[in-house]
Amino acid sequence: MRMVDLIEKKRDGKELSKAEIDFIISGYTKGEIPDYQMSALAMAIFFQDMKPEERANLTMAMVESGDRIDLSAIEGIKVDKHSTGGVGDTTTLVLAPLVAALGVPVAKMSGRGLGHTGGTIDKLESVPGFHVEIDNQQFNELVNKNKVAVVGQSGNLTPADKKLYALRDVTGTVNSITLIASSIMSKKIASGADAIVLDVKTGSGAFMKDLEHARELAQAMVDIGNNVGRKTMAVISDMSQPLGFAVGNALEVREAIDTLRGEGPKDLEELCLALGSYMVYLGGKADSPESARAQLEEVIRNGKALETFKTFLSAQGGDTSIVDDPSKLPQAKYTFEVEAATAGHVSAIQADRIGTAAMLLGAGRATKESTIDLAVGVMLRKKIGDSVKQGESLVTIFSNREDVKEVKDIITDAYKIVSEAVEAPPLIYDEVRVK
Ligand code: URA
Ligand code: CA
Repeated sequence: MRMVDLIEKKRDGKELSKAEIDFIISGYTKGEIPDYQMSALAMAIFFQDMKPEERANLTMAMVESGDRIDLSAIEGIKVDKHSTGGVGDTTTLVLAPLVAALGVPVAKMSGRGLGHTGGTIDKLESVPGFHVEIDNQQFNELVNKNKVAVVGQSGNLTPADKKLYALRDVTGTVNSITLIASSIMSKKIASGADAIVLDVKTGSGAFMKDLEHARELAQAMVDIGNNVGRKTMAVISDMSQPLGFAVGNALEVREAIDTLRGEGPKDLEELCLALGSYMVYLGGKADSPESARAQLEEVIRNGKALETFKTFLSAQGGDTSIVDDPSKLPQAKYTFEVEAATAGHVSAIQADRIGTAAMLLGAGRATKESTIDLAVGVMLRKKIGDSVKQGESLVTIFSNREDVKEVKDIITDAYKIVSEAVEAPPLIYDEVRVK
């Protein structure tokens, strides 16, 4: 086989076979196919697209390009959740103990990564003593015993995706539904998931700015998953404003605790119930997503979800007294209010700008070498649809620095206040269920 022939084939809109896709991905991973040929192919895929079978084959070729996590020592159906990213997305912290409380094993592997706030592990490390230095065997034992554990990512997962993603970034080929869907799904499958629940975000703070593309991406990922034997479902949710109120590491842990107690922000709770009911259903612990939802509401009400969170923290060295006394979490030295300049109704909150503000305070990493300040971040006091008086607080800033002028300006800029009444946006736009 020659790469140039395969590029021409895709350029002319023809289908690539499994053998051809395997040849391309393994050759590219090994460095036998150069970047310039792979970029030409990525551009051909961008314009000519791929059929569902090609997408599935591309995904599995990327899975085969590196290590695969073996979770077979863990009992039950391992359901993983993936979010396409957003601002202040506290769902993982809530969902892990919440679905574990119903016996669905949560074997969470998480990275640190870059972003507005830390990753799941960073957030959990704001609990004094909590650590992820456990080996594979301990990890498996903890999941079997408590149904939930979190460990750092190890192994060389999907090197083909790493290389291709970096190439797409500089060749104008990131925004292909086929390439995004196969990239995300390859990582989930290589991490050992038996079933997958996807939270595809849409809106100003999301990767997919409009609903039509979010729907297409969700359908593409659900099709890939189901074509390769991983039951997959998706929820399309709103990211036109940050989810919940908290954006910051310790602040989000506190928000997760409130939510597990049934006293969290309504939007965060609603999304966790929607995603959680699919996880419990796919995990085989309920006959339908609807009955799963009733069970989830019950473990919030009877305290079992919060109890599972404590057990999980303590099994990894965490001080569980923070659950009843959150003042033991890292606290910022200063708080500042961002006040509304005019009275009116909040009509928009640019989520990505709020994320930038949190990052500037030190809640996230700008580069891999940056250190995170777990105490800092922001709490939204007003969300879309809320009315505000002049001088009322829109956002509270938690900072360890006294000078927050730039952060205040960014937040003020992110809020749009209008004189007429505004309706809050829907939280969930659509769902894609297993066929
Ligand atoms: N996230 C991914 O992991 N891959 C993409 O291609 C886009 C977003
Ligand atoms: Ca939040």
